[in-house]
Amino acid sequence: MKTKRALIVFGSVIVTLLAGCGRGALDLAEQQDKPEGSPIVVGFSQVGAESEWRVANSESMKSTLSEENGYELIFDDARNEQENQIRAIRTFIQQDVDYIVFSPRVETGWTSILQEARDAGIPVIVIDRDIEVEDRSLYTAYIGSDFRKEGETAVAWLENLLQKKGRTENPVRIVHIQGTIGSSAQIGRTAALEDALERNPNWQIVKQELGDFTRAKAYEVMGAILKETKDIDVVYCENDGEALGAIDAMEEAGLSCNTEGGVIVISFDATKLGLSYCLQGKIALNVECNPLQGPYVAEIIQQLERGETVEPVKHVEETAFDCFTITKEMIEGRGY
Ligand code: AHR
Repeated sequence: MKTKRALIVFGSVIVTLLAGCGRGALDLAEQQDKPEGSPIVVGFSQVGAESEWRVANSESMKSTLSEENGYELIFDDARNEQENQIRAIRTFIQQDVDYIVFSPRVETGWTSILQEARDAGIPVIVIDRDIEVEDRSLYTAYIGSDFRKEGETAVAWLENLLQKKGRTENPVRIVHIQGTIGSSAQIGRTAALEDALERNPNWQIVKQELGDFTRAKAYEVMGAILKETKDIDVVYCENDGEALGAIDAMEEAGLSCNTEGGVIVISFDATKLGLSYCLQGKIALNVECNPLQGPYVAEIIQQLERGETVEPVKHVEETAFDCFTITKEMIEGRGY
């Protein structure tokens, strides 16, 4: 929907203006710069490569926004630093890309750079995690997960399991390993656990530590916790990497992870690796977080190219897997 893209019709300008992210005046001379059939240039700032999930998300973007599909993708890995993301987005603006897409590290701190993108008239699509800005029209669309719902699925399943086991009064001792603080994924999953703690007075947080969504960090913090106590019923990990790291540490310390008297491990993502742990019973519940967001982004871009209005918020489809019902076939048929 950028002004220089050929074949832009008046309707798309109206849409842009309605969306509040329009390029100022339509410069016809500039528009003709870009020959018909030239690729759509997309600058994508990926937060990093901290998890299997993230790698699958990058791959989905790269394979969808490919040359064969009519795109030129400029991919930047921010190595988990918000400053790097802001720098990359500024570079995309200087490069005058057609669209900017980014997966934000945290929810806050984006207003100024989005204002710069808007001044340059470049539509911005936020993926994976959402952002918090006063003026919602600073970005055209958000595509990602409903992290709060993911957390609610996890705690409802745990409540049900503990109820079946008659664990409604004795203390349930929980270790909580959090993801990157301030990211939507952490905020939503943590909020659901906090709500469940309020309605289940016998649930207790033994320790809450930062796992940064990585296996290495979770292994480290879980190892330290186990030096203080092994009296743990549940470990609530905010992604598969953390679950795997925590399981490594618990097994090394002689604890078993299972629902039959062992430690109950809850995880999010449902990557193939995470699900293989679920199949073994080591992860009791794995709530899916769908990284295959490239096709959703392409659909939005195509709608904008045609001058159509786009849905401002699109949550990707997600499900959950537990150790009682998962099968090998379910894992094999999955895309990541
Ligand atoms: O924002 C999505 C989360 O970030 C995924 O759960 C996690 O694996 C990733 O690093």
